[in-house]
Amino acid sequence: MDQSNKAGATRRTNQDAAQRGYFRFSCDGNILQELPCSEVDVALRSLYQPPMQRCLTLTFARHNRLLLRNKFASAHCQQSAAMSGLLINQPKYSWLKELGLSEDNPGVYNGSWGGSGEVITSYCPANNEPIARVTQATMAEYEETVQKTKEAWKIWADIPAPKRGEIVRQIGDALRKKINVLGSLVSLEMGKIYVEGVGEVQEYVDVCDYAVGLSRMIGGPMLPSERPGHALIEQWNPVGLVGIITAFNFPVAVYGWNNAIALTCGNVCLWKGAPTTPLTSVAVSKIVAEVLERNNLPGAICSMTCGGADIGSAMAKDERVDLVSFTGSTNVGKMVAMTVQDRFGRKLLELGGNNAIIVFEDADLNLVVPASVFAAVGTAGQRCTTTRRLMLHESVHDTVVERVAKAYKQVRIGDPWDPTTLYGPLHTKQAVDQYLAAIEQAKQQGGTVVYGGKVMDRPGNYVEPTIITGLAHDAPIVHTETFVPILYVLKFKTEEEAFAWNNEVQQGLSSSIFTKDMGRVFRWLGPKGSDCGIVNVNIPTSGAEIGGAFGGEKHTGGGRESGSDSWKQYMRRSTCTINYSKDLPLAQGIKFE
Ligand code: UN1
Repeated sequence: MDQSNKAGATRRTNQDAAQRGYFRFSCDGNILQELPCSEVDVALRSLYQPPMQRCLTLTFARHNRLLLRNKFASAHCQQSAAMSGLLINQPKYSWLKELGLSEDNPGVYNGSWGGSGEVITSYCPANNEPIARVTQATMAEYEETVQKTKEAWKIWADIPAPKRGEIVRQIGDALRKKINVLGSLVSLEMGKIYVEGVGEVQEYVDVCDYAVGLSRMIGGPMLPSERPGHALIEQWNPVGLVGIITAFNFPVAVYGWNNAIALTCGNVCLWKGAPTTPLTSVAVSKIVAEVLERNNLPGAICSMTCGGADIGSAMAKDERVDLVSFTGSTNVGKMVAMTVQDRFGRKLLELGGNNAIIVFEDADLNLVVPASVFAAVGTAGQRCTTTRRLMLHESVHDTVVERVAKAYKQVRIGDPWDPTTLYGPLHTKQAVDQYLAAIEQAKQQGGTVVYGGKVMDRPGNYVEPTIITGLAHDAPIVHTETFVPILYVLKFKTEEEAFAWNNEVQQGLSSSIFTKDMGRVFRWLGPKGSDCGIVNVNIPTSGAEIGGAFGGEKHTGGGRESGSDSWKQYMRRSTCTINYSKDLPLAQGIKFE
């Protein structure tokens, strides 16, 4: 194609992109990058875009493309910073530098820091102001990182488990030293309140402690062999490279559960955090890298490639990634699962929840009210263990609704990093839209908003925590996990009905009953009780401890992370039979002579 035809074709396809709501950056007719208009900074538009034209073509020589892309990124950045100012440059947020963060941060770690892919800006959900930027991994950098991580495994797998545990202990200690500042970053970038930000760093610390003990305990039994002079041994070996894909809502803890246990088991890790919490991924990786480097170990033992769906799907497809641990939505999890299954790879899935609290007539309402508020409103409804359905026995229904609504009124809403705040913003603007859409659907399906229901008139992604009554237990919206603080209240008559409603949703993560009836407690725990991975009594659905195995059934994905024997998911089992006799007896008494 001659140059003028090519330029014409480029203009036309750029217009197509604009119609789809995208900005396309191209050069010589080659597409460099497409970004949703919503993500293209206003500043960039005013800098490059003629009025009324929604598309932009940069024409420059191919050999200068990368150079210009970097310049473009920095022009974009300077303009953004000049217009709105990066929070990291404000004295109030100077503590971010204690985490080794700066205006521009490399988003790849594999023993050394790099990244030359897309530059993304991380925004603070409490005011939608830019905090700082991260340069994500290109596919070439992903490839290089996988190779280095695989190389690092050769060294790590040779280190005895208790010595690996000692490294994990040091990681826990390094996190302890930074717990408040890292918790603040989680609060700033994810939007959860400060104590919850610190709480999830605490989870990482706790799981490190747990993993240190584990490093002297993991192993299989020696089983009785039916043959004389034979030993039957179960040997556990690391799987190799564990790919860890985590979600925005727990940008530290979920990586921690996987990382500490996987390392202790003798695996190396490659982490891709959520694209909207990249600064937390960088800050955590810096802490871990420092420990590895101090011990003269390859940093690639804990690699990181910041990126979006391209990196995630590369990990899912990659035969070299021996286990893909994915935390996120059921929809994306399903795609990951199918891709990994297609290559008979291992997967560990922590997907959605649609968790219920069931309150019986004999429940202690002084426990029920704070438990429901914590589990429904905490983290602004963005935990996979958030209570989404509150099932109330008809005899206590009205009282509990009234008391919970009264407690909602007292929830202190504000800046998440203000220590007195209990409720912060949603993570993104898209979540605000999902909140509004869910409320609309709930109303259409017969629900009544008895508390909240509106977007709040203040900067940031704040919505009112919401209570909706009057819906049928099987209304489509009640069976949908919307990752926002909406609580659906259902009225039931019998235990049988309540247990059935608990189990009728597709997800199977967490569940709680409030009762004093011991018979009911054990029916709840038994085969006809809750079908969830987490089954509680007189405590909320959220706030699990790291000592137990965390995860759920059905569309939640079936994986188990963190405590108990979850370590088995990070190892492969060999059944070994060793003949130390001079005979060759066959099993089942078979004679083959
Ligand atoms: C999640 O929501 O993705 O049980 C994890 C809890 C936390 C973990 C939640 N310990 O709420």
